[in-house]
Amino acid sequence: MSAVMNKPGKGSQNLKVNSAEMRVEGVSKSYGIAHLRENVVHNASFVIEKSKLTVMIGPSGCGKSTLIRLLAGFDKPDSGTVTIDGKPVKGPDRDRLVVFQESALFPWMNTYDNIMYGPRARGEVDDETKALAEFLLDKVGLTQFRNKFPSQLSGGMQRRAELARAMINFPRVMILDEPFRGLDAMTKELMWEYYAGLYEESRRTNFFVTTDIDEAIFLADRLLIMTNIPTQVRAVLEVDLPRPRNLKELLESDRANEIKMEALGILHEEAMKSFSSGSAAASDFIEAYSKRVKKKG
Ligand SMILES: Nc1ncnc2c1ncn2[C@@H]1O[C@H](COP(=O)(O)OP(=O)(O)OP(=O)(O)O)[C@@H](O)[C@H]1O
Ligand SMILES: [Mg+2]
Repeated sequence: MSAVMNKPGKGSQNLKVNSAEMRVEGVSKSYGIAHLRENVVHNASFVIEKSKLTVMIGPSGCGKSTLIRLLAGFDKPDSGTVTIDGKPVKGPDRDRLVVFQESALFPWMNTYDNIMYGPRARGEVDDETKALAEFLLDKVGLTQFRNKFPSQLSGGMQRRAELARAMINFPRVMILDEPFRGLDAMTKELMWEYYAGLYEESRRTNFFVTTDIDEAIFLADRLLIMTNIPTQVRAVLEVDLPRPRNLKELLESDRANEIKMEALGILHEEAMKSFSSGSAAASDFIEAYSKRVKKKG
């Protein structure tokens, strides 16, 4: 289905669209040649459920961005299949939209023009799209900054503009690769609330990759915990916390803490495994883990 047909009814500022399910089945991917060949993804299988927010967490360098490239269709698996609503992914398509960690805003366009870039490029600027742009500007708190250029925005504002810029295109699946990495802790928490709000408003299929456990639990409906490289799903946790989510409530919630401890236990086991096999990622990982444990104590 095209993104145009996916639009909500006229006059509506409703972001709900006909979102899709994606499946990764028995996927493997290696890079390099001969003895330098490295198996990055090994026989990975998982489902990105329709209308849910699935979060993937795994150690740095385990192969998460590699999986994103396969989902986006930028790259092909060596074996196994990636499908969207049962149809094989053959390449990039506007039904899937990827938001990366790096800013993708055009520096020569102001916030509003950046957000309107997709609809303009397709010649789809009508009153409905303009109304939606206003709605999104408001949702991400940038109405006052509509005429500013990216260089005049803070890092957090830039990411918010990017979220709005992606949402206006009505992808059936939103794929986000550590979009808030590198932001300071306070900005990050603000971003979680903006992003969770956008998700709750749209209930569009979202796939979000992170290395941050608090981010993962705050956002996820389902949490996929990955093994170290070559990666595959180690565990799936259902994050059965109520929505709309509120950070303060969540931090005080026993259930959230229980899920976090379970996830950290699994991640710790993975870190120990890679530590004994000499992986470089393991030391970062153990450091991050011990910080969390100290915080708790
Ligand atoms: N195009 C490529 N050519 C060769 N090696 C690659 C390529 N892409 C990824 N790799 C290797 O695959 C491994 C996993 O990389 P990937 O970027 O998928 O990890 P990641 O989990 O996203 O890490 P991070 O959390 O740091 O972003 C790395 O060892 C990397 O060197
Ligand atoms: Mg990555």
